[in-house]
Amino acid sequence: MTEASTAPKAADIQPAAGKLGIMIPGMGAVATTLIAGVEAIRRGLAKPIGSMTQMGTIRLGKRSDDNQPLIRDFAPIAALDDLVFTGWDIFGGNLYEAARTANVLDRDQLEEIRPFLESIEPMPAVFDQHYVKRLTGTRIKTGKNKCDLANQIRNDIAEFKTRTDRQVMLWCGSTEIFLEQTAVHQTLAAFEKGLVDDDPGISPSMLYAWACLKEGIPFANGAPNLTVDIPALRELSKLTGAPICGKDFKTGQTFIKTVLAPAFKTRYLGLSGWYSTNILGNRDGEVLDDPESFKTKEESKLGVLEYILQPDKHPDLYKDIFHKVRINYYPPRGDNKEGWDNIDIFGWLGYPMQLKVDFLCRDSILAAPLALDLCLYMDLAARTPSLSHLGVQEWLSFYFKAPDTAPGNIPEHDLFIQSMKLKNTLRHIMGEDLVTHLETPND
Ligand SMILES: NC(=O)c1ccc[n+]([C@@H]2O[C@H](COP(=O)([O-])OP(=O)(O)OC[C@H]3O[C@@H](n4cnc5c(N)ncnc54)[C@H](O)[C@@H]3O)[C@@H](O)[C@H]2O)c1
Repeated sequence: MTEASTAPKAADIQPAAGKLGIMIPGMGAVATTLIAGVEAIRRGLAKPIGSMTQMGTIRLGKRSDDNQPLIRDFAPIAALDDLVFTGWDIFGGNLYEAARTANVLDRDQLEEIRPFLESIEPMPAVFDQHYVKRLTGTRIKTGKNKCDLANQIRNDIAEFKTRTDRQVMLWCGSTEIFLEQTAVHQTLAAFEKGLVDDDPGISPSMLYAWACLKEGIPFANGAPNLTVDIPALRELSKLTGAPICGKDFKTGQTFIKTVLAPAFKTRYLGLSGWYSTNILGNRDGEVLDDPESFKTKEESKLGVLEYILQPDKHPDLYKDIFHKVRINYYPPRGDNKEGWDNIDIFGWLGYPMQLKVDFLCRDSILAAPLALDLCLYMDLAARTPSLSHLGVQEWLSFYFKAPDTAPGNIPEHDLFIQSMKLKNTLRHIMGEDLVTHLETPND
């Protein structure tokens, strides 16, 4: 077969017609900020700042062509007007109340969209306190085993399917305890047996993911939990053509880390230490105050430098980096996190220098546009024949602290390489030339 006949054609992508249903396990700060934000934007009350799908452009052809359409005009991405939301949570009350609890958006802004938010009420959740120690839920499904619980989620999905044309699921639930892979995660058959046997290696987020993939629906993981990063669910994803990706939204400190670390590496500046600490006071911070949930987050945050700096290839520069990440629960700050970084670098002849970063950010304001983009791109992936059966969507690594990869692949952490990979994937599926930066001045 020639290359031309195997190259994807934009015409093969199913159109984004009808309603796109977004299902969110965990309707806390990120989810309510996403949903309230989409509604405010739909009504012309605010702008989708931070969202690549809404504000981003993509260069096509040579630089001199000056052809840079908006991504949403270039690729068939669902329109915000077509989004419909539902989800699950362990706490009762509608999304107006949940957004008030999360205390991210101004009260005045919430009042403008109050009836819309009041019209959405999370469904009772599948939850087990063994996996999130600091929360005690009030609206929790009961069932005879994990298989029964997962099938109850499938029933919820089936009902939502009657109201929407396509669906995606995005995990915005709390960070679960750190889980190592065991035998139950290795094959789909072992996993499905584990559902019946109540295997402790199967956490609630895996039950949502299994139910979702069984229904042929894409699943993205905004938290650092293992969830779909296991062979069993990769197998299911490929089987049903339901794309998966994760894990852990790359929002604040790690976002900046994956900009600065490649800068040092590009200039061959050495690094001896990187101390990162955070204070935050939202419910996420409370959950992460538990050492077992923190361990999951810590693993996700720590991997970044190792992958970017490649100490084995550059021992003189990066062999003994002292890298520490702390998260401290400090209620007065609520969702307005403060992240400090002290970075010890060294230059010519080994002379030391320091860099200090103090990022006074807003956790969910940074996460919401990423959550939106992930839903829209995962829906696009499901409609694109060359992507839908790939399993893990590595081209979406841009959005994650600890990008899931196909087995044996090395994750890409450098934000700008991730961005290039994402845009080149869009060009590829749309049948456009990739941008290689090889052009001569006259191109
Ligand atoms: N905000 C950010 O910048 C950011 C960045 C990276 C990752 N994350 C991750 O995203 C997730 C959501 O963050 P958040 O700030 O919205 O937290 P949050 O605590 O406000 O919301 C999480 C919600 O999940 C619910 N929940 C927990 N277990 C559940 C289950 N099994 N089923 C259904 N609901 C469940 C909780 O009741 C809570 O309402 C967290 O895991 C967090 O670590 C957030």
